[in-house]
Amino acid sequence: MHQQWLLLAICFWVLFMFMVASKFITLTFKDPDAYSTRQEFLFLTAVPDSGGLPGQKPFLKDLKPTEKLPSASVLVHPLVYMERLELLRNVCREEALRNLSHTVVSKFVLDRIFVCDKHKILFCQTPKVGNTQWKKVLMVLNGAFPSIEDIPENLVHDHERNGLPRLSSFSRAEVQKRLKTYFKFFIVRDPFERLISAFKDKFVHNPRFEPWYRHLIAPGIIRKYRRNRTETRGIQFEDFVRYLGDPSHRRLDLQFGEHIIHWVTYVELCAPCEITYSVVGHHETLEDDAPYILREAGIDHLVSYPAIPPGITAYNRTKVEHYFLGVSKRDIRRLYARFEGDFRLFGYQKPDFLLD
Ligand SMILES: *[C@@H]1O[C@H](CO)[C@@H](O)[C@H](O)[C@H]1NC(C)=O
Ligand SMILES: *[C@@H]1O[C@H](CO)[C@@H](O)[C@H](O)[C@H]1NC(C)=O
Ligand SMILES: *[C@@H]1O[C@H](CO)[C@@H](O)[C@H](O)[C@H]1NC(C)=O
Repeated sequence: MHQQWLLLAICFWVLFMFMVASKFITLTFKDPDAYSTRQEFLFLTAVPDSGGLPGQKPFLKDLKPTEKLPSASVLVHPLVYMERLELLRNVCREEALRNLSHTVVSKFVLDRIFVCDKHKILFCQTPKVGNTQWKKVLMVLNGAFPSIEDIPENLVHDHERNGLPRLSSFSRAEVQKRLKTYFKFFIVRDPFERLISAFKDKFVHNPRFEPWYRHLIAPGIIRKYRRNRTETRGIQFEDFVRYLGDPSHRRLDLQFGEHIIHWVTYVELCAPCEITYSVVGHHETLEDDAPYILREAGIDHLVSYPAIPPGITAYNRTKVEHYFLGVSKRDIRRLYARFEGDFRLFGYQKPDFLLD
C-alpha cells in the first residue's frame, strides 16, 4: 500500500516536471510553422553506437499510459500504421481517383528521395512537415557529420556537399534495388494546412533568404490569377489558391522549377501508389510517429530526440478557416479537386466546413 502511494507521488512529480519543461520549450517555439528552418524543433541528436540511452526508453514507455496532460502524446496504436498502409493501398486501387493518386516515378520523384545506404533507408522529402530534421538525422547516419549540432544550417539543403545522396544519382538498377529492399518512409500532414504553411513560409515571412519567392514567383502568380486589378498588395492567399486549383497550373509550374516542391501534391512528390513505403508518418501525431519510424528503421539506438513541444503539431481548424475566409467557394472546390488524392490516400477528412 505504502509503495503504491510512493509510486503515485513520483508519477505526479514527473508530470509536474514535464509540464514545467514543456512550458519552457513552447516559449522558444512560438510559431508552429516556422520550425522548418532556424528553430530546431525536433532536436534529434545522435548518440554513439554503443549503448544509446539505457533506461530512458522503458521509463518513458512506463510513463506514457498514465499521462493526463492535455498536450500529451495521443499514443498511436501500432495497428494504426498498418491501417494507414492498407487505406493507401485501397485508395490507390480506386479507379475514379486514378489521376489524383498515381504518377510516374520520374526523375522529379527520385530527386525527392534521400538515401542512407549504411542503414538501408530511403526518405522522401515533403516540405513543411519538419523534413529538415529528418535530413539531418540521415546526414549523421551517413557519417558525414558526427552529430546534428555539427551540421551547419546552410549545408542541410546544399545537396552538393551534405553527404546525403538523392536516389536520382544512382543507376537504374541501383535505384530498383534500393526501392525493393530498403526501409522507406515519408511524412504527411493535413493538405490544406500544409499549403497555408508553405504560403506563410515562402511568401509572408520567409525566414531563409530566398528573395525569388516574393520577387519572381509571387508576381508571376499575381499577374495570372489576381481577380481585383486595383488591388496592389503583395500576393494574397486567395491568389495562391486560385493558382493551385487551376487545372492548367502546369504552365506556371514549369517556369517555377523545383520551387514547386513546397506546394505540389504528396502524390507528385513521393509517388505513394507506385512505391511501397514502409511507414507513412503523420505530422499531427509526430510525437508517436517519429520514435516509431526510428524503431522500424532500426536506428533508434543511434538517434534520440527530446519531447516535441505540445500543441505544435496539432491540426488547427481555426487557422485554416481564417486563411480561407476571403477565398471563394468555387476556388476552394477547385483546390480540393486537385488535392483530393492527398486527402483520401492519407485519411484526412474532407474539409466540408470550407466547401459547403
Ligand atoms: C485522367 O487524365 C487523363 C489524361 O490526363 C484524361 O484523359 C482522363 O479523362 C482523366 N480521368 C479522369 C477520371 O479525370
Ligand atoms: C479591389 O481592391 C481595392 C484596393 O484594395 C479595394 O478598395 C476594392 O474594394 C476591391 N474591389 C473588390 C471588388 O473587392
Ligand atoms: C490556431 O490558430 C489561431 C489563428 O492563427 C491562433 O490564434 C491559435 O492560437 C491557434 N491555436 C492553437 C492551439 O495553436
